[in-house]
Amino acid sequence: MCGIVGYLGFSQAAPVLLSSLRCLEYRGYDSAGVAVIENGQLAVLKATGKLSNLEVLLAEQKPQSTIGIGHTRWATHGVPNNNNAHPHLDCTGTLAIVHNGIIENYQTLRSELTGRGHLFKSDTDTEVVAHLIEDQLKQTGDMLTSIRHAVSRLEGAYALGVVSQRFPETIYAVNHRYSLTVGLGDNESYLASDSVAVRQYTNRILRLEQSEIAEIGQGVVKLYSFDGIAVDRQPVVVDTSTGAFVIDKAGYKHFLLKEMHEQPTVMRQTLGKYLKHPNAPVDFSVGNASSIGSESCAVNLTAEDLSGVHRILVVACGTAYHAGLVGKYIIESLCGIPTEVEVASEMRGRDLLVNQHTLTIAVSQSGETADTLSAITEAASKGSLTLGITNRPDSHLCHITSNLIVTECGIEVSVAATKTFTAQCACFYLLALYIAERIGSVSPERLSQLKGELLAIPILQEQVLSRENEIKQKSLRHAGARDVVFVGRGVNYPIALEGALKLKELSYIHASGYAAGELKHGPIAVLDRDVPVISILVPGALYEKTLSNAQEARARNAQMIAVAVDGDDNAQKTFDTVLSIPPVDEFFSPLLTVIPLQLLSYFIADHLGRDVDQPRNLAKSVTVE
Ligand code: M6R
Repeated sequence: MCGIVGYLGFSQAAPVLLSSLRCLEYRGYDSAGVAVIENGQLAVLKATGKLSNLEVLLAEQKPQSTIGIGHTRWATHGVPNNNNAHPHLDCTGTLAIVHNGIIENYQTLRSELTGRGHLFKSDTDTEVVAHLIEDQLKQTGDMLTSIRHAVSRLEGAYALGVVSQRFPETIYAVNHRYSLTVGLGDNESYLASDSVAVRQYTNRILRLEQSEIAEIGQGVVKLYSFDGIAVDRQPVVVDTSTGAFVIDKAGYKHFLLKEMHEQPTVMRQTLGKYLKHPNAPVDFSVGNASSIGSESCAVNLTAEDLSGVHRILVVACGTAYHAGLVGKYIIESLCGIPTEVEVASEMRGRDLLVNQHTLTIAVSQSGETADTLSAITEAASKGSLTLGITNRPDSHLCHITSNLIVTECGIEVSVAATKTFTAQCACFYLLALYIAERIGSVSPERLSQLKGELLAIPILQEQVLSRENEIKQKSLRHAGARDVVFVGRGVNYPIALEGALKLKELSYIHASGYAAGELKHGPIAVLDRDVPVISILVPGALYEKTLSNAQEARARNAQMIAVAVDGDDNAQKTFDTVLSIPPVDEFFSPLLTVIPLQLLSYFIADHLGRDVDQPRNLAKSVTVE
């Protein structure tokens, strides 16, 4: 939610700010703005809507400045308009603030400041910070002291960037329970909420830890705690050579389409990193191959640790939650350890029943999702073992979990998660094999067989993707649906949920996912000619029952669509449309069945003219609770 950037050096600030904001647009695209110091005066340019609108404004105005901060917004307080767009100013118009997060006590502060004569121009929580600093600056004349005083009044989690025309050679940054990275070049400095934006310019980076203030000069930075004590931490040199930061559609119409097509490669990379061949053990003690971050990942759970684990709890949101549901099925099948999956935001405000016999797993592509971070932090405070699964080894999640598995996806630009979902599922298969290996819940022969089948999945995914044109043509038959019901059983129940989420967020057509057996308990009431049912039907223990559930829907006149394997005659007879996949074992089938559903959502959304890479109202990294 919201992205902060900054630049200070000898080049023109506006193009650098714009390019950095482009890397962060996934965090929100309700509005964007910059504040620069031009001829000693603070100048602010803002535009509602996408970054391209700000780009036009900057091209027209051409601000001449070598220092500035910028922001891309996902609205929380106040509708998306120019007034509420960041940066926000103090009453003097000489100090500008950009903000990510939520100031929870802003209403109290706003009343207090209004009472002291401050004039507010926006509906945001952010603006109070500018006025708080202004008050102190009047008294002390010192920016660091003023910022320290301001943050002592703030409640909530936030990251800030601050510039003032009174201090035209410094950018100030604050991090409190968020992420901010400073990049240092030769007489140039960069600031960004996501290190990806900084790494396009420099490989010397410094992450702000929690509750720190940075005083950023040209190519130098000083860090302070909120108490004003200097912090001695040196920048680290990161590897930017692999091209993991290249943000390029590679000829595809959308990032989403490209990312769906990357799934077999990503799967090979993620599996190959931790599992060399069917007879090798799963080994998570390897470094981070993607070099997105500096930390290496490792899982150091011994047989003794694992024999003390009585329960596994997975916490996650959205698509990552669905990967957790696949994980539950896999872990319970292979390891026999009871596994629960909770929507992370539902873990707040209740007493978590976790202890040292629980392993809590947080799944988050971004590693910055506030709900997920809060849930795992609370679990850790109760003595639970912790494990993170993320695509971002430089994220906050990695700092707060004792064990870490990194998905090797590269950057996922499209707001809708696709390649990271299948990679997260792959990590659950690997983790279950790892645990089973250690606790001896599966025979060595069966383990080798399962590993062999898992390693063969990328080839099958390629076969599904090669049917893209057929899937497109069949999907578009249903582009006029009013509502869509997705059903699946067992390990494919989470795929029904994920299919419905993908369709909703990409096409804005309402969709719901259900366990197939639940259809008759209520949802069947919504079915008619304009409400198709999509069933995931894979041969295995649950095949017959899923087929019966489909028959029940068919009897209500619904258009019937199936994801089914090649050669399934029942599917051909029962369903109006069959999106076929190659034969696959039910146990591994989610890694394939989700792909036609991703493609269906994409093609329908594109056909309806939706903004598939940046759907309305969404942001990729949801950093507010
Ligand atoms: O970064 P995370 O995996 O923690 O994000 C969780 C959800 O916000 C995310 O999966 C969201 O549901 C996506 N838009 C799904 O496509």
